Amino acid sequence: STFAVLNGPNLNLLGTREPDLYGAEGLSDIQQRCEQLATELDVTVEFFQSNHEGALVDEIQRRSDNAGIVLNAGAYTHTSVAIRDALAAVQVPFVEVHISNVFAREDFRHRSYLSDIASGVIVGCGIDGYEFALRRLAALVS
Ligand code: DQA
Repeated sequence: STFAVLNGPNLNLLGTREPDLYGAEGLSDIQQRCEQLATELDVTVEFFQSNHEGALVDEIQRRSDNAGIVLNAGAYTHTSVAIRDALAAVQVPFVEVHISNVFAREDFRHRSYLSDIASGVIVGCGIDGYEFALRRLAALVS
């Protein structure tokens, strides 16, 4: 099975961006960890990051035959009806991930346009959250 790990705006800056909140590891470390886990689980994982809402919508649409999507939509989580609609359209199970505990932060981060249609939500577990999400999605299809 193929799983997508999609990251939204500013996550390309992981490692240098607000390290107190997001840690010292970069997106390439997340990719390495997920690829290692994918080998262990005997699945395929594909990565994508964009700072552009429409590019994320396009990518989600292209994933309609995937077994699952791990999605950190970054700030678009709190604003994007378009990303929500794309996820609803493809009907691929997805787990929403946030590195930081969004509920311990500003009020505007408490609302997600994605959570109620997500298969699961992982918040505040650092970048381990991506591995938890991948394990969960792999378990759902096996
Ligand atoms: C984030 C939380 C969002 O509120 C923020 O806009 C991000 C990252 C996280 O992983 O903790 O860009 O999704």
